Amino acid sequence: MDDGEKIDRRTFIEKAGFYSFWLTLAASVAGVVKFLMPDVFDEPSTSFRLGKPEEFTKDGGTRLEDKNLMIFKDPEGLYAISAICTHLGCIVGETPAGFACPCHGSRFDKQGIVAGGPAPRNLPWFKIYLSPEGYLMVDTAATVTIGEKFKI
Ligand code: FES
Repeated sequence: MDDGEKIDRRTFIEKAGFYSFWLTLAASVAGVVKFLMPDVFDEPSTSFRLGKPEEFTKDGGTRLEDKNLMIFKDPEGLYAISAICTHLGCIVGETPAGFACPCHGSRFDKQGIVAGGPAPRNLPWFKIYLSPEGYLMVDTAATVTIGEKFKI
């Protein structure tokens, strides 16, 4: 024996239609809301602060390990060279002659120009500029011609 309430076919179809309508409507509204509020993935900034110009009084080099970047200062100005090998992306090390890649032996001179090995391109130089707040900035998304130094 069944104590549950029996529903007839007509009632079942009416209820199924009613719930299907509201379920479809809710899914449509959710789709519209998702469309209006897309997922946004913040990319890290390609520009970062080096410091105040007065911090760069001495000539020499500074290696920024976390940025894979080398900053140099000489009497002509400041410049930033990528430490990422243009062959397959290993990190180059400094040598007395310039830079050398430990992975496949590419060598670059002190300006980052390929001096040997499989590297197809020179190490890029990145743009250095002064922020409105007076800080020296590097933009790793903007390259400059090799030899173009920022006068400080
Ligand atoms: S990754 Fe530098 S030589 Fe291959």
